[in-house]
This record gives sequence, structure tokens and C-alpha cells, in this order.
Amino acid sequence: MNTNNSPKNIETSINNMYSLYEKVKHIINKNKNEESSFSLTLFSFEFDDIETNYSTYLDISKKILSFIIENKPKKVSLFNFEKDKIIIFAPGSGTERQKFFKKVLNKYTNISDIFVDKNIVLKIKKSEVEWPRDGDNFDQLLSKLVDKLDENNCNHLASKFNINSNNIMINKSGEYLNNVKKTSTQLYLIAKNNNLEIIKQNIIAEKSLQIRGGKPGNFELFYILDGKISYAEGEKILNAGDSITARCGKEEKYFKTLTEVTLLYITSNPIFASEQKRINELLALNNKIAETDHETNQHCNRLQKLSRLTAEEMGLEEKRIFNLGFASFLHDIGKVKVPATLLQKPAKLTKEEWKIMKKHTEWGKEIILDNFSTEYFDKIAEIIYQHHERYNGEGYPQGLKGNQILIEARILSVVDAYDAMIYERPYQKALTREAALAEIKSEKGKQFCPDVVDAFFKAEKIYQQRNHDI
Ligand SMILES: [Fe+2]
Repeated sequence: MNTNNSPKNIETSINNMYSLYEKVKHIINKNKNEESSFSLTLFSFEFDDIETNYSTYLDISKKILSFIIENKPKKVSLFNFEKDKIIIFAPGSGTERQKFFKKVLNKYTNISDIFVDKNIVLKIKKSEVEWPRDGDNFDQLLSKLVDKLDENNCNHLASKFNINSNNIMINKSGEYLNNVKKTSTQLYLIAKNNNLEIIKQNIIAEKSLQIRGGKPGNFELFYILDGKISYAEGEKILNAGDSITARCGKEEKYFKTLTEVTLLYITSNPIFASEQKRINELLALNNKIAETDHETNQHCNRLQKLSRLTAEEMGLEEKRIFNLGFASFLHDIGKVKVPATLLQKPAKLTKEEWKIMKKHTEWGKEIILDNFSTEYFDKIAEIIYQHHERYNGEGYPQGLKGNQILIEARILSVVDAYDAMIYERPYQKALTREAALAEIKSEKGKQFCPDVVDAFFKAEKIYQQRNHDI
């Protein structure tokens, strides 16, 4: 048991906890009466088994939650679980808490570590704290708690203890409340209040940007600080100083970054927590494939770029390019279910092994639909499902023919085959660019859609000219 050192991977959560701590630290030591106040301690459990998946964590979390409810019905109040950790806020004295969590640890042997942070005493009625729900994460719980403090407690406590509450905060450049990063996008949470988040967002060039209306009362502003964005299929351009606003409604619009873009993003519908969760899930999914197949991560990035260029040559609308980009990045996600021995086999697969390998299209669709249950992912799942169909009907899994195959899947199939050929695989040596292009050409009208092949040849040339990493 570790009670002093903060493990690195819970740093963010602890930083968040500190921001709460900063808000209420003046109360500590002034109110010793634990009966009338609410004592919080941050406990973070870490799991030994990094292979354990999210649903297992969720399951363990739920078990622990039931255990807590059974054993201390009036005591523990807030509970948070994230991908690789569980954070519990528990009342009571230090010794009581240690005893209680030892009990929990004994019950669940795969919890290896316990981290005890500062005790924080909050004057808050237990009935005012909501129980967590599935999908709640640390930020959401924290903001619920802080909201309660803002509304009911802060002013009252500030006057009672004659405390100067911080009405004016100074945020130094580079200091953010939170941030989340992936290759194409970085989000920095600059400030937040009850129903307001102010985010700085960086997006790389040549990316689709989807902006939707949303729920009643929704208001969002995207103010371009730097860079260029196109819309209306490239006919109109937005520059620094221009902005996009979105209110409640069903409309959605698709934009494309022409250069690297920095946005100031203000939203009345706090998304940071959910966006962070979604991006982390995506990264986790992609890392899963990278663990088994070293090439795949870069392969996915190249595919995204080549798919976009090909789709643009064919005049596809931005919405479809957006879906294609997602599908390209995650097209082989189903391979997480294929045994690593098969993926890394340095020889041709047997008939039986191929049968398993081919299942990755079906598994990919399932994984996407299981993880992202919104309608936006239905199309993406379908593209992934069809990415090994062949124009002449000899592909899998459904044996679709010609235009029965989604255009996005027909594009992905050419781009995927090309990229696979020019990079060495466990079972085959890399071909030269010229040999790979000749191979694609020879399959025009057979394996590949002729229109896509024509567009791909132009796109590939542009890709080379732009000096990408092929
Ligand atoms: Fe595939």
C-alpha cells in the first residue's frame, strides 16, 4: 500500500482534485467537526493487469460500489471509475478509511495499490450529492460537486469563516484545467463554469470538422484564432477572426481544415469530459491493434490521408469524407480479436486461419457499434464491414458487387491494398511504388472499382508531391 507517492498516470485526476482542494482548503483546519461536515479523501486504485478491459473495470467498479452500499450505506458518497483506476471519496477518520479500503482490497485481489491524498473537509449535505451513474467520469462528478459548492456553500462558508473567495482568477498561458491529445486534435480546457466551457483546440491540416446543432438551449462558438477552414465543398473559406456559431437544432455541417487551425471553442453544453472519454477510447482501441501489429498505427494514418485525397478526386461531400476518415483510421480494429500468432505469422495462412482472419471485418463492425452507440457511427461501422468486398463480387464477408458496395468502402479497399503492398509484412516483402501501382491497375474492374482506381492514381500522385512519408 502506498500512501505517499502519486503514481504518474493519475496525475491528471489529482490535479483536478487539487483545483477542488484549492477552492476549499481555507475551510480545512477550521472545521474539525466531522459530524456536521463532509470529509473527502481521494483514493485511487490501480490495477496490475493492464490487459483487463474497460467492461471488466466497470464490472469491478460496480461490485465495489455495491460493497460500499452494503457496508457503509451512509458514509461513502462519491465514486468514480475510469479506464484504469477507481477513485472513491470516503468520509470518516483516516484510520476508519484505511480499514475500510483494506477490506475492499482484500475482497478484490487485482487491486494492487492505494493512494491516499489530502483529506478535504467540505460542508455539504450528503443528500445534495448525486450518486454516480454509468459513464460518469471524474470531471463530471467533480463539476457536480463544485456546482453544489458554488450555489449553496461557497458564499455561506466564505462569510462564516471570513474568507476571501477567489472571484478573479488569473490563468497563465500554458496552464490548463485539463487537456486531451491525439494525433490530429488537441483540446485544452481553459476555463469552465456551471454550463460553460472554454476550450482551445488545435487541429492539423486536411481534417474534417463536424459541427452539429444539438440539444435545446445549446450554444456553441468556434472562433478561428489561426489558420484556414473551408466549407460548402471547398467553395468558401474562413480565416482567423471568422467564427461559426451553432444553436439547438438537427442541422449538421462539415468543414475541412486547409492549414493547421487553432480555435477558441466556447460551449454551453460541456463536452470536455465526454470528448475526452471518446478520444481516450479511440486511442485505446487503436493501441490495441498497434500492440499486435507494429505497422498498423502508421498504416491507419497514411490510409486516412490517401482516402481523403481519393474521395476528393471523386467529388465526395465532406460528410462522407468525414466518415471515411474515421473508418480508414479504425478499419482493422476487428483484428484485436484475431490471435496475435496469426497476425504475426511469417508465412501464408492456412485455409482455416484465413477463415478466422476474415472475421475481422465483422468483428470491427461489432466493436464500433458496441463502443459508439450513436447513429453517426452506423455508417462508419458499415464501411469497416465492407472494406474487403471486391468490385467483381469475389470479396468478403457478403460478396457484394459493383455499386452494391459503399463508395467509401470501395475507396478504402484500393488504398488499403496499395499501402499493404508497399510496406513489408510478416508474410510478404514490400513492393516498389511502381510495382504496387501496376498491381492496382491490373485489378481495375476486377478487385477494384474502375472509377476509384482512376481517382486513386491522381490522388497518389498528389500524395507523393506533398512529400508525405511514403
Ligand atoms: Fe482489413
